[in-house]
Amino acid sequence: MTNMTHWDDNKAKAVMTNSHARGAPLTGALRALVDAFGYVDDAAIAPLMQTYARSRAEVLGVISYYDDFRQSSPGRHVIRLCQAEACQAVGARELTAHVCKKTGLALGETTGDGQLTLEPVYCLGLCANGPAADINGKPAAHLDEKSIDAKLAEITK
Ligand code: FES
Repeated sequence: MTNMTHWDDNKAKAVMTNSHARGAPLTGALRALVDAFGYVDDAAIAPLMQTYARSRAEVLGVISYYDDFRQSSPGRHVIRLCQAEACQAVGARELTAHVCKKTGLALGETTGDGQLTLEPVYCLGLCANGPAADINGKPAAHLDEKSIDAKLAEITK
């Protein structure tokens, strides 16, 4: 289960201010927002522009560049399936198709009840141990249909 609270503009501003005061770069503030709320709400863009003296395009460019910085609230559980080459070579595409079929979701979608989000990720540093995934922030390696089914059952029970 992801550990986050609903978006709150005042709390978000405090997170951004604290990150900036500690000398964190823009990516550090974005990381702190995602850790706190699970995503970076549109309401954060203007304060980030002001705090970091960046244009809107620069802030949005950084958010879209990194897999970790989503712009919409994720589900209660988040599975990020690696789609990069080393994992593809050992079955990531087939594993992804299996998970998508089993959950009824495409990558980037969340179940209607807000319980589960599937996301693509492009390398988790587990290249020699693929197919790999990040399940609620924890790495999972050597996945196959049986093991991902077990993890899905475990997190959604
Ligand atoms: S390619 Fe999948 S973890 Fe690196």
